[in-house]
Amino acid sequence: MKGLNIQHADWAVVEQDARHIRTAVFIEEQGIAAEDEWDDQDAIALHFMVYDEQKAIATARLLLNHSVGRVAVLSQYRGQSVGRILMQQIIFQAKIEQRPLLKLSAQVHAIHFYESLGFAVQGSEYLDCGIPHVDMAMMLDTST
Ligand code: COA
Repeated sequence: MKGLNIQHADWAVVEQDARHIRTAVFIEEQGIAAEDEWDDQDAIALHFMVYDEQKAIATARLLLNHSVGRVAVLSQYRGQSVGRILMQQIIFQAKIEQRPLLKLSAQVHAIHFYESLGFAVQGSEYLDCGIPHVDMAMMLDTST
């Protein structure tokens, strides 16, 4: 990777790049149905994108209800802290917006990834789109 940069923007700005990543990761790699992947939340979410120079390599979205979702790093860029940098930017932005917490529905394989960022498991496992998930949350200290 050469020069990483992170942006957050509305769907209208990043739709093409985010769709490319989420199609590759969730629909093609994980087998999630297209009708489950795309919903009306994209239009009102804040979208975070990581670019390696001009190439979009990771994405996630933050909803009004403080839920983080659709966290995806292109497979060839994993294990190089791209996901961590993306999530840290979301946490930073959430603190700026004085959000009290962040929450997410984590695929079970990614629990350690989110724990390393400060999220904690809440409750027990369930299936979503046929994939084991668990709810996780992180309280934010908005006084700092
Ligand atoms: N299982 C266990 N640990 C993982 C992990 C996984 N799948 N992915 C990352 N980690 C750990 C890393 O080992 C690292 O821990 P360390 O600092 O103790 O070594 C930490 O999480 C950060 O890793 P990083 O390199 O920043 O993660 P990444 O760029 O590979 O992104 C995902 C992580 C989960 C976003 C990425 O694997 C991905 O896009 N997966 C497919 C889509 C997906 O499942 N998204 C999550 C939906 S809830």
